[in-house]
Amino acid sequence: MTLKITGALVLGEQAGDLYVDDSGVLVDEVLSPDETIDADGLVALPGLVDLHTHLREPGREDAETILSGSRAAAMGGYAAVLAMANTSPVTDTAEAALRVLDLGREAGLVHVQPVGAVTRGLAGEELAELGLMARSRAAVRVFSDDGRCVHDARVMRRALEYVKAFGGVVSQHAQDPTLAGPSACCHEGEVSGRLGLPGWPGVAEEVIVARDVMLARHTGSRVHIAHVSTAGSVEVLRWAKAQGIDVTAEVTPHHLMLTTDLLTGYDPTFKVNPPLRPDEDVEALREALADGTIDAVATDHAPHARHDKEHAFVDAAFGMLGLETALAVVRTALPDLAWADIARVMSAAPAQIAGLEGFGSLDLGSTAHVVLVEPDATVTVDRGASVSLSRNNPWHGRTLRSRVVHTVYGGRVTVRDGALA
Ligand code: DOR
Repeated sequence: MTLKITGALVLGEQAGDLYVDDSGVLVDEVLSPDETIDADGLVALPGLVDLHTHLREPGREDAETILSGSRAAAMGGYAAVLAMANTSPVTDTAEAALRVLDLGREAGLVHVQPVGAVTRGLAGEELAELGLMARSRAAVRVFSDDGRCVHDARVMRRALEYVKAFGGVVSQHAQDPTLAGPSACCHEGEVSGRLGLPGWPGVAEEVIVARDVMLARHTGSRVHIAHVSTAGSVEVLRWAKAQGIDVTAEVTPHHLMLTTDLLTGYDPTFKVNPPLRPDEDVEALREALADGTIDAVATDHAPHARHDKEHAFVDAAFGMLGLETALAVVRTALPDLAWADIARVMSAAPAQIAGLEGFGSLDLGSTAHVVLVEPDATVTVDRGASVSLSRNNPWHGRTLRSRVVHTVYGGRVTVRDGALA
């Protein structure tokens, strides 16, 4: 199948044509293409890469499956997603990682790259089979106990030393569990006080970010901070990067736009971990993304079945959907961010952090992973229209800017005219 994409604004700049040959590679010309996509007025970006997706399979296929999550990813313009390890069973062995990889291949809509657990069963005590996962066909490079912090400094140090041998990275859910009670469910501050909800202070995140950048410096290894949510974490990251410490960081779309005030209705749709923070944190996160202190946008797409989410706020599950809306949220939150920068933070940088080759570029000779975006469309989000199996969509009813029109994964059209192909 050969493809021609005509008139696209490549990285938001000059209009040009893109050609895909029948091995799915971007080339400078194809004489009589099998399919032509008219992309006049659309922006072409490299297919997006998500460092942080919860696909729920195995274990919670009622909330999402690798297939349904792959559909949501394709609809959001993604070509690759990293599937977090907090499934049931946990992805803490090579066999478990291979199963995720292979189910992703079967779905065939995006590359599904398994994230390996740092510790066995996410229990925070013994290291998981890091080397076996890395050396397996799944070639796992990102390790995370996401949902839980690797809070024992000795375990974190060992994990960093271990992954260094094969160029891996530990993605840390930075949250010191000793700085909040077990039922913490939102940001600790004025709003939590008023609502009578137990909270996490921002410093619970910041102390772990500070500790882990020092452990990265000590071990000479690479640490990645998942879903950074506070201005204080940004300060630490800025300092660490200035020292040359090998640290990268991601921010979620929701932390770039939604604030603690949304909790006043006690709606569990807005319950997420790390929690929504006040305006000043959101402002600092936007600045940090724009100036490169934060390297990437990652969705933390966290689908939950109704019966896990529809509870009193303190009892509901943490998490919100994100794959289908991420690009539009970034565009809405940072309207002045150049398309080349969006391509960097949503595709090239995450691909590099994850060690995924063949993603993040529209250069000739690259595999053809492309997303075509209508830049100034406005779309009012309807949670009922989602292809995810879950409905915990914090963007429902909001009007966002930009729309994914077509997605091409490995030369194959996965989304055409805003619908699964
Ligand atoms: O809100 C969240 N949901 N944060 C996490 O860290 C885990 C995730 C999940 O698995 O639902």
